[in-house]
Amino acid sequence: MPKKLFLGFNWKLNPTTFKEGDDLLKEYSKTTQGKLKSEVVIFPPTPFFLQADLAKIESQSHYQVGSQDVSAYTSGAYTGELSAQILTSFGLKYCLIGHSETRALHKLENDQIDQKVQRALEANLIPVLCIGYSQDKNGINFDELKQQVEIGLKGLEKFQDKKVVLAYEPVWAIGTGKTADSKTISQVLDFVKKTVQIQFGQSSLLNLNFIYGGSVDDKNIVELSKVANIDGFLIGGASLKPLVFGKIIEYFENLEK
Ligand code: PGA
Repeated sequence: MPKKLFLGFNWKLNPTTFKEGDDLLKEYSKTTQGKLKSEVVIFPPTPFFLQADLAKIESQSHYQVGSQDVSAYTSGAYTGELSAQILTSFGLKYCLIGHSETRALHKLENDQIDQKVQRALEANLIPVLCIGYSQDKNGINFDELKQQVEIGLKGLEKFQDKKVVLAYEPVWAIGTGKTADSKTISQVLDFVKKTVQIQFGQSSLLNLNFIYGGSVDDKNIVELSKVANIDGFLIGGASLKPLVFGKIIEYFENLEK
């Protein structure tokens, strides 16, 4: 059976008020009627999903809602943290882990990312593990990618049957209007797949989605979708513009892969 394609909309620290967030969610609801073919997940700032009527969003527009991070801890004296169990008890199914902005802000090491992924998998929260490197276009940093995958995904050993989304997001492409070219994306996704396969065996690839993020919009998604081994996208800036995300969803839903 072909894998379900994945489309993630990362709102980051936007918009600025509950009213604006609610209006944006309404715009999302308007863009779809009926069941979605692909897995479309919105990642708003935490309070938006607490306020939003999740059941309504899911039943009427068929979006999922995810968290932008998850704690490496389950409970206790960890001020400011949100555990995987809290998130799933609110009905969330996905969480971003190790987004480059989160890695930089919280000075996260790969070991901490590994703990977050493990806590998510234990609680049946699907991790969208972001990996990437900061140098410019002229070369892929395979060493950094390998470390991020090998350490960040260590937990897969215990949870081979669980779904994970791996997002290749070169840091220089995030929010800059520059995307990696199709050849680079294909090369990186192949490398990441091979790394996972060596570590956990061929069958572990069955439950993994391999996606790209970094300045994806309604224009370049057509070209980027042609990458043979790509299962979807993680989208930031364009996810805040109704006309743009509307076109993206429409295009993506009709994509045959
Ligand atoms: P961008 O962000 O689409 O604005 O580049 C992508 C991301 O941060 O996941």
